[in-house]
Amino acid sequence: MKLTGNTILITGGTSGIGLAFAEEFLKEGNKVIITGRREEKLKEIKNRLPEIIVRLSDVSDAAQRIELADWILNSHPDTNILINNAGVQLITDLTSEIDLNRVGTEIETNFTAPVHLTSLFVTHLKGKENASIINITSGLAFVPIAAMAIYCATKAAMHSLTLSLRFQLKDTGIKVFEIAPPSVDTELGHDRREDKTQSHGGIPVSEFIEGAMLALKNDELEAAVGQSAGLRAKRETLFEQINSGFNA
Ligand SMILES: NC(=O)c1ccc[n+]([C@@H]2O[C@H](COP(=O)([O-])OP(=O)(O)OC[C@H]3O[C@@H](n4cnc5c(N)ncnc54)[C@H](OP(=O)(O)O)[C@@H]3O)[C@@H](O)[C@H]2O)c1
Repeated sequence: MKLTGNTILITGGTSGIGLAFAEEFLKEGNKVIITGRREEKLKEIKNRLPEIIVRLSDVSDAAQRIELADWILNSHPDTNILINNAGVQLITDLTSEIDLNRVGTEIETNFTAPVHLTSLFVTHLKGKENASIINITSGLAFVPIAAMAIYCATKAAMHSLTLSLRFQLKDTGIKVFEIAPPSVDTELGHDRREDKTQSHGGIPVSEFIEGAMLALKNDELEAAVGQSAGLRAKRETLFEQINSGFNA
């Protein structure tokens, strides 16, 4: 895809992968709009990068998703790329009764929100040059870490959804990308950790972004970056290996 001259909405741009995409796309000469729940983070980013557009918005709330789409279509009608990036990663113990609200929010954030937002933007995107929908899934869509059962299931669902969406939109001119990151050192999982400074582990965000931007540039519609490619290719053999070595 053309990496310059776009107007790009990135859900969840206050840290990690979303923020790194935002910075990279700004450097490439795009207009970038980011969202998130943390107002302070949005303000900090706006101070550091005055050209960025920020919007306080919680994607797990259907009414806020509709409000976000209305605002974008009215205030930034040049938007031609949607990046469904916002996500949370929780540990879920399936050996006892689950907390349905907690699980519901994880599913709403990681799966329902991208489905809903896509539907709210698709008619608008059909009329745009270089229109794209980019879904951020995960290598864990292909091989789950059992302790993160719901998270991995939402990512597997996003992989499946992306295939169907790409098929349904094949005659519209909207490109549908899936980027499946490997483990990347971001704030992911901080919600479940007492020590928020504890590293997530994985490759530096800068290394991931380099691979992801190259994949987009080369129109690689399904881009499993770094170790994610291995996870997709060798899923069954890796299940035991990845789970025996994982500590929550
Ligand atoms: N890091 C990895 O190893 C890895 C691997 C594979 C896939 N991914 C995927 O990459 C995406 C980005 O994650 P990350 O690693 O960059 O983690 P991160 O640093 O925790 O970033 C997550 C982003 O999502 C936003 N977010 C979470 N819940 C939200 C909500 N309800 N409404 C709006 N924004 C919300 C957060 O903003 P606020 O907190 O301000 O709302 C934050 O900007 C996620 O979809 C994740 O599943 C990450």
